[in-house]
Amino acid sequence: MTQDTLQGRIGVVTGAGRGIGREIALALAAEGMHLALVARTGAAVREVAEQIQTQYGGKVLPASVDVRSPEAVERFARLVEQQLGPVDLLVNNAGRIEPAERPFWEADAAEMWDVVETNLRGPLLLTRALIAPMVQRGHGHVVNIASLARGASRTGTYTGYAVSKRALTVLTESLGAALEGTGVVVIDVLPGRVRTAMSESMPVWKDLKPEDWDAAEATTNVVVAVARGDYDDQAGSLLDAPALHRRS
Ligand SMILES: NC(=O)c1ccc[n+]([C@@H]2O[C@H](COP(=O)([O-])OP(=O)(O)OC[C@H]3O[C@@H](n4cnc5c(N)ncnc54)[C@H](OP(=O)(O)O)[C@@H]3O)[C@@H](O)[C@H]2O)c1
Repeated sequence: MTQDTLQGRIGVVTGAGRGIGREIALALAAEGMHLALVARTGAAVREVAEQIQTQYGGKVLPASVDVRSPEAVERFARLVEQQLGPVDLLVNNAGRIEPAERPFWEADAAEMWDVVETNLRGPLLLTRALIAPMVQRGHGHVVNIASLARGASRTGTYTGYAVSKRALTVLTESLGAALEGTGVVVIDVLPGRVRTAMSESMPVWKDLKPEDWDAAEATTNVVVAVARGDYDDQAGSLLDAPALHRRS
């Protein structure tokens, strides 16, 4: 356990306008990190930035960026480095799921592909844009917010979501091995089942009792610990946040 301080470190959190990403941003800000917050909806990230500035101070850069766009991601990466400095932590949290629970043969192919673009291309573009300076500096962490896509596996639906999240885990595994010895760590964090706009849109979870949902705090605690370097020996692997939370 290294327990690095996060005070003054620079972080990027995507999908920070609501849900799990918002909670991650607040937890990292509470540790004294300076943050860039990404979502398509500028008003949502501006609101979270205002809350952070009021509660914790520190620098916050809210940015309306579509993670599917290579040009927008490149522009954003340059802006963060200019305005905040070299990035220590990237949290690839932005994600979406198909709007309806349909079997593959009835689902809209363009819709499924858009889910893949958001959940896989987005993290790939952001990681590519921000990781080279991390490798040059010999320091950095990338967290990919993963999913076992249990909702999809149970029903044979949400194919874009299931495919994109499994592929994201392959990206993490492959980078984890390739980055060994560079000082840069890529790791998956699994939030479990957290009540958000996304999970509430899924009929498969509609009968869950309040106690069946996992706390977002489990994920935020693990992300903070990853940023501190506590899990550097598990680079490339998947951390089950609710299970770790229950054990702590
Ligand atoms: N909730 C769960 O139980 C659960 C379980 C396992 C994994 N996860 C994963 O956790 C992450 C967060 O999920 P959540 O439940 O918190 O979802 P959510 O409440 O729907 O939030 C998703 C966030 O992603 C942003 N986003 C979506 N598409 C984007 C794009 N193209 N570019 C930039 N930002 C985009 C959204 O903002 P805009 O719409 O304004 O862009 C929003 O801020 C996702 O990766 C999800 O797959 C969630």
